[in-house]
Parts: sequence; structure tokens; C-alpha cells
Amino acid sequence: MSTRNYGRSSERMEDHLIENETSFYVKAEQYWKDIPPTVDGMLGGYGSISSIDINGSKKFLQKFLGEGKGKTRPGCALDCGAGIGRITKRLLLPLFRTVDLVDVTQEFLDKARSYLGEEGKRVENYFCCGLQDFQPQPDRYDVIWIQWVIGHLTDDHLEQFLRRCRSALRPEGLIVVKDNVAYEGVVPDEVDSSVCRDLSLLRRIVARAGLSIIHQEQQQNFPEEIYQVHILALR
Ligand SMILES: C[S@@+](CC[C@H](N)C(=O)[O-])C[C@H]1O[C@@H](n2cnc3c(N)ncnc32)[C@H](O)[C@@H]1O
Repeated sequence: MSTRNYGRSSERMEDHLIENETSFYVKAEQYWKDIPPTVDGMLGGYGSISSIDINGSKKFLQKFLGEGKGKTRPGCALDCGAGIGRITKRLLLPLFRTVDLVDVTQEFLDKARSYLGEEGKRVENYFCCGLQDFQPQPDRYDVIWIQWVIGHLTDDHLEQFLRRCRSALRPEGLIVVKDNVAYEGVVPDEVDSSVCRDLSLLRRIVARAGLSIIHQEQQQNFPEEIYQVHILALR
């Protein structure tokens, strides 16, 4: 999780960042390869906020879940940029029958197999793949959870990925994006090779992907020094 709030902002990330798209992705892969496969590693040293994060996500998701008409079914979830499975373990496996994980870092997925314990038997797939290349199976997922990873995709790749996620949803399915939000413009992080976008840019990308924001909240009770974190429900 990138918490560093420095660097100059601009209207589009491509303006100054993606001179070399390949190196944007390669540098991020390299960064994550050196990070320990722990909750603290996933959260950039803020492991202590994991419970607040998960509780906020659970409250958010439970508004939509159920077996009735119009409700999102508790069938299969996809955890995107899953890392070691922090969210799968405490949010998705308790609420869904099966879960798939996708992450670009093989070492994290290897760790997930032990970290998830007995309940991890309900994980059907561990996909090692960048989201920019990942093709989720059409009509498979009730919920696609995308947290603290969108900053690793270019605007165009994010749009295209969200479009593929839309096709991968079951009826009444939901995409949830939970991520840092910049006050204005696009703030690059040269250390982990990511960007933090403001809400208006994120909204434009969502709209270009053919999705609507059906609900949005700001995560409460996070430390003041980190970015604001917003949760968006899309379909
Ligand atoms: C800040 S961690 C968040 C992990 C998890 N979502 C969580 O909240 O605990 C970012 C994760 O994104 C993964 N990642 C980075 N770039 C990616 C990409 N292009 N495609 C898929 N995963 C990526 C990293 O390997 C890492 O596991």
C-alpha cells in the first residue's frame, strides 16, 4: 500500500509518468519481489490498520449481499492484487463459498497457501498475472474485489481491466474498488512505481469502462497522515 504523498500532481498519469510503460510495470514487479510476504508488507508498514480496514469493508459489502431479489449472491469472489490473501482470509472466505486470487507476485501467492490455513481449501484458483494482462472468466464472479492495486495500472489498462471485470460478473454481481485517493490530479510514487489518482479521474475511468458507481463511502478511522481511502461499488 503506497502511503507516500509526495511528488507533483498532474491531470493524467500519462503526462509525465508513462514515458516507458514497460519499465512502469517492471519496476513495480521488482519492488514487490523485495517486500516480505506479511500483512505489514502488504500495507507498507501499516499492518496495524488491517482490522479497521477489513471491518469497514465487511460493513460495506454486507449492504449488497444476500439470497433475495437484487442481492449479490455469496458464491464466488475474485481478490485482485491479492498479495498473501489478507482480504481473502478475513473478508472473502468468511462470506463466499469459493474465492480466486490474482496477483503479479508469485512469492505472495505461494505464501497465501499456508497463510489462508484450512479455509484456504475453498480457494479454487491462484492466478499469477498482472491485472493489465488478466482475463477473468466471463460470468464467473459475484464479487470482484480490487484493493490497493489500481495505482499499478495505467489509465487505459485500468479502463480495459474494469471492462473485462464487468463481463466476468454473474447477475447482480458487484465490482468493488477500494483505494487511496489524491486530493487533486495524479500523484506518482517513484518508489513502488505507482500513481494515486483523484476521485474525478477515477470516476472518468469507471465511466469509460461502461460501469456506474452505485454506492461510495470513505473509509473512516485511518491514520491522518495517509491518503484518504474510498470504497466504490460498481456494476
Ligand atoms: C499494497 S499490496 C495490497 C495487497 C492486498 N490487496 C491487500 O490489501 O492486502 C499491492 C499488491 O498488488 C500486487 N501488484 C502490483 N502490481 C500488480 C499488477 N500489475 N497486477 C497484479 N497485481 C499487482 C503486488 O504484488 C501486491 O501484492
